Parts: sequence; C-alpha cells; structure tokens
Amino acid sequence: MSLDAAQLDAYWMPFTANRQFKKAPRLLTRADGMFFTDDKGRQVLDGIAGLWCVNAGHNRPRIVQAIQNQAAELDFAPPFQMAHPKAFELAERLAAIMPKGLSKVFYTNSGSESVDTALKMAIAYHRVRGEGARTRLIGRERGYHGVNFGGISVGGMVANRKMFGTMLGGVDHIRHTHDPARNAFSVGQPAHGAEFADDLERLVALHDASTIAAVIVEPVAGSTGVLIPPQGYLQRLREICDKHGILLIFDEVITGFGRTGNPFAAQTFGVTPDLMTVAKGLTNGCVPMGAVFASDKIHDAFMNGPEHLIEFFHGYTYSAHPLACAAALGTLDTYAEEGLLTRAAEMQGYFAECLHAMKGEPHVIDVRNMGLVGGIELSPLPGEPAKRAFNVFLDCWDKGLLIRTTGDTIALSPPLIIERSHIDQIFDTLRGALRRAA
Ligand SMILES: Cc1ncc(COP(=O)(O)O)c(C=O)c1O
Repeated sequence: MSLDAAQLDAYWMPFTANRQFKKAPRLLTRADGMFFTDDKGRQVLDGIAGLWCVNAGHNRPRIVQAIQNQAAELDFAPPFQMAHPKAFELAERLAAIMPKGLSKVFYTNSGSESVDTALKMAIAYHRVRGEGARTRLIGRERGYHGVNFGGISVGGMVANRKMFGTMLGGVDHIRHTHDPARNAFSVGQPAHGAEFADDLERLVALHDASTIAAVIVEPVAGSTGVLIPPQGYLQRLREICDKHGILLIFDEVITGFGRTGNPFAAQTFGVTPDLMTVAKGLTNGCVPMGAVFASDKIHDAFMNGPEHLIEFFHGYTYSAHPLACAAALGTLDTYAEEGLLTRAAEMQGYFAECLHAMKGEPHVIDVRNMGLVGGIELSPLPGEPAKRAFNVFLDCWDKGLLIRTTGDTIALSPPLIIERSHIDQIFDTLRGALRRAA
C-alpha cells in the first residue's frame, strides 16, 4: 500500500523533515522480532528498537495477547479517586526490579510527562517539608528530557529550545560531559571527566543550595548523540547533591528496562537517584506509558494533613490506563522469561567490538558505547551540519537497516533480543554506507 500526494498532505509529522519525507515517504506497515516490513514488502532490520523503546522486539505474543484481552475486559477506569487492580499489580512488579531505595510508582503517558511530573514532585517535596524556597531546577547542557516546557527548560539541546521563548524561569545548567580531546574512541565509560560534576558546586555558589530543588540528568545521554558518563562522574554528582540537600533525578526514559545490561542504568553505575523517570521500554513501546519512580522519603513527605484531602495535585486522565498496564505486565513477563533485562550485558562485548571496528572508516571521528547503545560521530560536511549523517541514514534505509541520527552522530540501540548475525548485518550495512558517503 502506497500513499499519493493528497493523502500525505494533512499529517504534520513530529521531529521530521516533512518536505523531504513527503517526496520519498518511508512507510512501515508490519513488524516482527528484529524486523520491520515496509510498504514495498522489504524487510528492514530495526537497529534502534523503534525509537529506543521496543526492547523485547516486535509483535511479542504475551504483550499482544495482554492488550487484546484487556481491551475486551476493562477499556478504561478513571484514575482519580478510583483505580483498577492491574495498576497496583504493575507498581508492585516494578518496585521489585527498581534500584534499592526507590519504591513508589506514579504513572504518566510518556517520557516528557514523566519529566515534568518529576520536576513538579521535586519542587513540591521541598515545599511540603518546609523548604519552599527550593524551586530552582538544574539540567545539563546537551540534555534531552522530552518536549514539554519543563523538559525543554532543563534540557540542553539548542534546537529544541531556541524557538520557544523564555520557558521556565529559575533554571540553570551544568556543563556537558563531552570531551573528545581526551576521550575519543573510549570503550565503555571514558576515563576522564569525573570533575565535570563539580560544575554543580559552581551553581551552588552562584544561587545558594537553599534555592535549588533538584538536578536532572540522563545517566547515558541518548538523543544528543550518545554521551557516556565518565568514570566516577555520576558518583560525584550524587555526593554533591547529598552534601547540599538537592534531589537527584535520573531520566532513564531510554536507559531503563535493560538497555545498559541491568534493569536500570542506576544499577549499572551503582548510583541511586531520588527520583527516576521511565517510559518507552515500560510497555515495549506498544501502548504509550511513562512513570516516575520515587523514594519512600519523597512519597512519605506528602502523606500528611487530613486523610480525605488529595496529597499531590497532579495526574493525567490516562495515568495507569488499563491497556497500558496490561501491556506493561505482558512486557515484564516477556523480559523475565527471556532474561532480557540483563541480556545487553551478554551481547555488549560483541556489539562493542563491531562498533569500534568503525574507527578508521571514512568521516568517523569518535565511537562511543555502553550496553546495547552505540554512537558513531562523523565529521560534518563543511557548512552543512547533520547532512552527512542524514545521508548515511537514507543509504542504510535503502539497504534495509533502520538507524537514527542526531546532528552528525549515528545512534544505535537495537532490540535486546538481538543475535550476532543481526549485529553483523548492522555493521556491514553501515560500513558500506560510510564508504559511499560524501
Ligand atoms: C531521556 C529522555 N527523556 C524524555 C524523553 C521523552 O519521551 P517521550 O518522547 O515519550 O515524551 C526521551 C525521548 O527520547 C528521552 O530520551
């Protein structure tokens, strides 16, 4: 099935070069396991788990069945002052795999909503315990925290911010951790840069800790082009937050659910945040859902005052949607049965070997990896940033491989069910595309 020009007209596509796309649409019509099928019937290897979300691969029977059954059983239940059993069952199952210290689940519908929820929770937490002056939020340059106003305010990707006015007030940013001069082609965590965390001390000295509610970072920054935290960096950030009573929020929207070799990156790096945002892999990308994980300390601070009153004035019509809860339970079953939440740890060695073999191919100026996440940075075409990587993306698509690019970095995040033969296919295709690239 192909679409003609008139049919392509009405849909204003998100984060897409609309005019380019509509001249040569890339349409996906089916998916199974590691592969999409396009509208011409071609098989396309999924090198990015859809969009960092289809961690168990496509068309998984337990998830499909769970969604189908749920739609016929309970299509909707109001989440305010009411609930349905699967919302509790899912929260209990999630609490069992969270890093120690986190124990409560607040449901949202996306990563962006999770981020804004966590930011609000952090500010309100300080207020309910009598430190209402702690309202300042600290993000990091090059951070990506979704597209809502809270998320773009603490985010640090200029294209996502510059069009949208003044955003939230009272936000500042620590410096990013990218340091190619010292760390280019590091395998796994770079050796240099733990001291970048000290930039938080600079902001504390500027604003005073008594005004700062929270710091939010991605443990592994994905959307900005795969930046791996230097050794010791996250530990140092945790120490500085503790010293000043600042909450630490990990945005694990892409690192959650097995991407780095453990259920969560917090476990991979041995650093526990006070709040964690998740989405994507929570339902294997099948039904929109996100969540914020909170510590008992934060949750319990809200549980005061008269018992008939609402403690946290926040939530969404579709928080804990029955279809999403069912999909998430089917997803957790699939992850557990197939050991997928730790499978990246088994596959990362071969993945890293093939990924780092891209060093020396045309235009490659850095390669970065962690678990089943890979980044290949290309030198930009003179005067045309992002074009070279986009051309590689188009070439790969042509040859039956879906990758993602951000600026001039190619990002890879395949489903965790990946086998060695798929890894070979990814890098053989990429190598060819790099060699053809202008
Ligand atoms: C770290 C991070 N936070 C938040 C988001 C936003 O998630 P969503 O697109 O579901 O709103 C993303 C999406 O890629 C992300 O990578």
